[in-house]
Amino acid sequence: MEALTKEEMLARLSEIKEKCLACQKCSLAETRHNIVFDDGVPNPKLMLIGEAPGFYEDQQGKPFVGKAGQLLDRIFASVGLTRKKDVYICNTLKCRPPNNRNPLPDEKAACWEYLSAQIEIIKPGIILLCGNVAVQSILGNAGGITKIRGNWFKAESAVVNVYGARMMPIFHPSYLLRNDTREKGGPKWLMWQDIQEIKREYDKL
Ligand code: URA
Ligand code: URA
Repeated sequence: MEALTKEEMLARLSEIKEKCLACQKCSLAETRHNIVFDDGVPNPKLMLIGEAPGFYEDQQGKPFVGKAGQLLDRIFASVGLTRKKDVYICNTLKCRPPNNRNPLPDEKAACWEYLSAQIEIIKPGIILLCGNVAVQSILGNAGGITKIRGNWFKAESAVVNVYGARMMPIFHPSYLLRNDTREKGGPKWLMWQDIQEIKREYDKL
């Protein structure tokens, strides 16, 4: 099948977003202020999957707008990538879990319909799995993020259909904010290595 045009992708994504706006499949529907569906551009090269909306995301209806999001933008900017032009950003869950607790299995199961549609529409060449929640949703028990970050995973190693994408687990920016050392070999240093490797692959697509 031929790839969708950008207009077709946007039209299909907005259909899925409409479904999310009406979604009552799990109890997060009772506490959310806004659905957090996506941001960035439907770029068939690069998609990032995070965890779930936090306080500011729930208020504004956009992913990664708080401190972690600002750090994420700086990480992308360090290799010349921007959210406006280069990357499609979404989360495992579209609604905020109360007090930012970890998503529950039934919430992830309920929300998978929407994330899988986003992957199917964009068919990204590269998917960045940002933090352990995204890793578990897509790769199952592939291991903890500190062990597997920075490694490329083939589509066949996913527990769900990723339409041929190559995947790299990366640290979550919230984790980097909590572990703010600049030491060589520390989390931030590793993230800067990973983003450079990601950019090298991105440039080949
Ligand atoms: N953390 C996430 O994983 N996603 C967001 O959208 C914001 C913070
Ligand atoms: N634990 C997480 O959930 N995410 C990280 O990025 C690092 C540790």
